[in-house]
Amino acid sequence: MKKVNKICCIGAGYVGGPTMSVIANQCPEITVTVVDINQERIDRWNDEDLDKLPVYEPGLKEIVASNRGKNLFFSTEVDKAIDEAEIIFISVNTPTKTYGKGKGQAADLKYVELCARNIAKVAKTDKIVVEKSTLPVRTASAIKSILQNTGNGVNFEILSNPEFLAEGTAVEDLLEADRVLIGGDETPSGKEAKDILSSIYEHWLPKERILQTNVWSSELSKLVANAFLAQRVSSINAISALCERTDANISEVSRAIGTDSRIGPKFLNASVGFGGSCFQKDILNLVYISRSFGLQEVGDYWEQVIIMNDYQKRRFAEKIVSTLYNTVSGKKIIFYGWAFKKDTNDTRESAAIYVADALLEEKAEIIVYDPKVTEKTIYADLDYLGTRSPEENRKLLKIATNPIEATKDAHAIAILTEWEEFKTYDWSEIYDKMLKPAFVFDGRRLLFKDEMEQKGFQYYKIGQS
Ligand code: UDX
Ligand code: ADP
Repeated sequence: MKKVNKICCIGAGYVGGPTMSVIANQCPEITVTVVDINQERIDRWNDEDLDKLPVYEPGLKEIVASNRGKNLFFSTEVDKAIDEAEIIFISVNTPTKTYGKGKGQAADLKYVELCARNIAKVAKTDKIVVEKSTLPVRTASAIKSILQNTGNGVNFEILSNPEFLAEGTAVEDLLEADRVLIGGDETPSGKEAKDILSSIYEHWLPKERILQTNVWSSELSKLVANAFLAQRVSSINAISALCERTDANISEVSRAIGTDSRIGPKFLNASVGFGGSCFQKDILNLVYISRSFGLQEVGDYWEQVIIMNDYQKRRFAEKIVSTLYNTVSGKKIIFYGWAFKKDTNDTRESAAIYVADALLEEKAEIIVYDPKVTEKTIYADLDYLGTRSPEENRKLLKIATNPIEATKDAHAIAILTEWEEFKTYDWSEIYDKMLKPAFVFDGRRLLFKDEMEQKGFQYYKIGQS
């Protein structure tokens, strides 16, 4: 089997950055180069100040610090890295299409296609090309056809190696992966390519956790794994609404069903709704391919997971409005958290964006505090929705750097992300600063109802009456 000396990854984002840093760390004899067309991103990956890395993940900066400049490099020299590498990972963004056929559902593959064309143009030796981004089924065959028809006559083996890392625990997930999935052709050269990629992961994972499949299975499994996880969140969120109407408590229900070993305890936390770059996109892809194969009912079935999630976000915003005497106009509402979950600075599809949007439509004044998300990102998220002009967004929504001071004369606090630090706050001090009655809307079930009520708050928690 061929020995791997150099690998390259196109795309230095949330997937490419952490994955390649871990590979470099575990495989000291392999040179890993991460390239991106975005100069600013690469500069931040190379920044002396490790707090400026573009991706925040626990444990990441330590790994970058100990490998960068040795066998881990970040660069904008895309062509050079492609030319030198034996294995090329494609980790570019695949947003949901905002135009044309499949608008709002299908993934936009333009970045992947540009990447493939670039590889075809530059490659002078045989390469293994690995699709790493979250991609809809059949992308590998599209990449293959581009490479085989436009390349310089060299041989390309295309593999699908979907990522299963969850943000906030990316490093841990990569080091302790439940499984690694490698899909490729069943031909002798396809099998060899799968073995070569396996050998990289075998540096730190037992062989039985590396599953080799055909390309379709690998690509589809990625979508299905996320669809199943998202479905659990939507299922428990559906029950949270029922709990609020009855005397059932969602924590007790979650525990009761989670102890059934056939169901298990994970992904049963009721919340204001799931976010992140994968769940919604992957399910929409599943809906899209199902329908494109004429399987209307299958598409409808999975779409309901998204409909439930949208309902949960809307329901939370409506709860705030109805509780604050049916008007939030001119009222000061503090958002604790903007990221789609704790321990990440990623905000893609975060529930906070949609809750803020709904409240801004009611003319609320929002002040956002998030320990890791920048002001620029928060405004960009809102502007992207296009509901209001950028000027109006900046007029109605402000950013706080001091979460305690921000609560002065506030009508309500809404908890949108489960950051641990929110639990450590002196909530009595916050109570004193706020207007009375002081409301807290806990979209993450982070705090204790009894304690909050003892302190004087009017406290609402998702999933409890
Ligand atoms: C997900 C997959 O878990 C991962 O394997 C990968 O394929 C990428 O997509 P990620 O989006 O990083 O990872 O986060 P995840 O931990 O799965 O959470 C997704 C969303 O669901 C978050 O907004 C989270 O807060 C929410 N969630 C999760 C709940 O609301 N309740 C839960 O019990 C679990
Ligand atoms: P993900 O969560 O999938 O990692 P990100 O958006 O965080 O997604 O990262 C994708 C990265 O890919 C971005 O930094 C983007 O600049 C980069 N990228 C997109 N197209 C290309 C390309 N043709 N060549 C190099 N980098 C690219």
